[in-house]
Amino acid sequence: MALEFLKRIFNPNKVEIELNEIQALILRSRPIPYFGTVAIIEIKDAVAARQMLQKLLPIVSSAEDWHKNEGASVTLTFTYKGLEKIGVPKESLETFPESFKEGMADRSRFLYDIGVNDPKNWERVFKRSHIHIAAAIIANNEEAWKSKLEEFRSKLADNRGIEVILSHNFSVSEEVKNVFGFRDGISNPEIEGSGIEVPPGFDRPLKAGEFILGYPGEAGTIKPFPQPEVLGKNGSFMVFRKYQSQVAEFNQFVKENSSSPEEGELLAAKMVGRWRSGAPLVLAPEKDDEKLGDDLQKNNDFSFKDDEYGKKCPFSSHIRRMNPRDSKSFVLEDERLHRIIRRSVTFGDIVPPDITKNDGKERGQYFIGISANAMGTLEFLQKQWANDGNAQNLGTEKDPVIGVQDKDALFSAPADPFIKRYRGLQTYNIVKGGEYCFIPSISALKWISELP
Ligand code: HEM
Repeated sequence: MALEFLKRIFNPNKVEIELNEIQALILRSRPIPYFGTVAIIEIKDAVAARQMLQKLLPIVSSAEDWHKNEGASVTLTFTYKGLEKIGVPKESLETFPESFKEGMADRSRFLYDIGVNDPKNWERVFKRSHIHIAAAIIANNEEAWKSKLEEFRSKLADNRGIEVILSHNFSVSEEVKNVFGFRDGISNPEIEGSGIEVPPGFDRPLKAGEFILGYPGEAGTIKPFPQPEVLGKNGSFMVFRKYQSQVAEFNQFVKENSSSPEEGELLAAKMVGRWRSGAPLVLAPEKDDEKLGDDLQKNNDFSFKDDEYGKKCPFSSHIRRMNPRDSKSFVLEDERLHRIIRRSVTFGDIVPPDITKNDGKERGQYFIGISANAMGTLEFLQKQWANDGNAQNLGTEKDPVIGVQDKDALFSAPADPFIKRYRGLQTYNIVKGGEYCFIPSISALKWISELP
């Protein structure tokens, strides 16, 4: 179903960007279902790492067939330290953005990574400055994933100059639900010139330069990008964050604040902005509508214009904070500059709503966000829209899904006749680590692999 939909909206005459140069992850939506691995590699020796890169190059996927979304794709990204370690010359390194150079842990003050999310509480692997390459293999079937993973591993075998310091497998069924039991990966901006033929009612695609380096952006100009051109052009930036989800605690909060399972479902949906099926509250304000949630042509076709007071979808819900669309208090163009392509993947099992005791298992998601200014966008979303209520006239209220909650934690949902206020939320998704990465083009990977 998803595949058919994508094939229908691809028009080869509308391709204006170099799809064969751009890594697939940027354009390829997450398959349904999906299977994969994320891996982090430490470089110990530059020559050995460049040899590894030469071997891996033939299996890195370009975006040429993004709309087909078949088989397995391999993505390779570098942190600033990784580029330095593999031997990218100093003059080039200097052309990268400052936030990228500093890395995610050192940017905690810009990310509101405080309290439980403070980098000092991160997993050990993310505390060390040895994260050099982050790779992802994502496939639409188990067989393709396993064989690509095997191929990937064989290219790394016997290489003493590199070490895989983290390898995490994941798989998600046809239902594409996260561990809270909510469908995710629904709303993403589209890129102009990728060949996308957007169905009526959908948002217009954004200029390529917002997501891919070396092309004009929404302002009509090409923003400075890493040099030389062969290294920067057709690349992008990616932020990834590993989250541990506290689903039992979320369920407990919902249970304590509702008098029936139905009321609980509505409160949980109000916190997200969508029902478990993915149906948006704006289109289905009273109860879940699975048919709507499943319908890729309809489940993202809505605006907040008809919900001026947030009585259907609260201003504070996760999706309304992260993408206010045409909410009255936002200038449209301003909102469009804070979009990020999400390719997040879930790991661990779903916790049903009646479970309110934490079993201590590892479950959550790798949030993967991509844009030409991914660091700036993430920092803006984290600090302004997720952890500060001011933009929405919500005082100190925070995003109920990703906010870092404190003793004054509050969630408010406009209703008739009064606003409903809920207190006592916890931080339901705890950051365990993450990094800022550069996604080089296919030519840039080759250039890096051939550095003297
Ligand atoms: C474990 C952490 C997270 C969970 C469980 C989560 C969950 C969800 C869910 C269920 C949706 C609605 C379905 C969809 O459109 O995909 C969503 C949408 C979204 N999330 Fe998150 N999310 C998480 C982290 C983040 C982070 C860290 C950001 C960015 C700072 C973010 C930004 C967004 C955006 C931009 C949307 C789409 C909004 C729209 O266009 O309607 N999310 N998220």
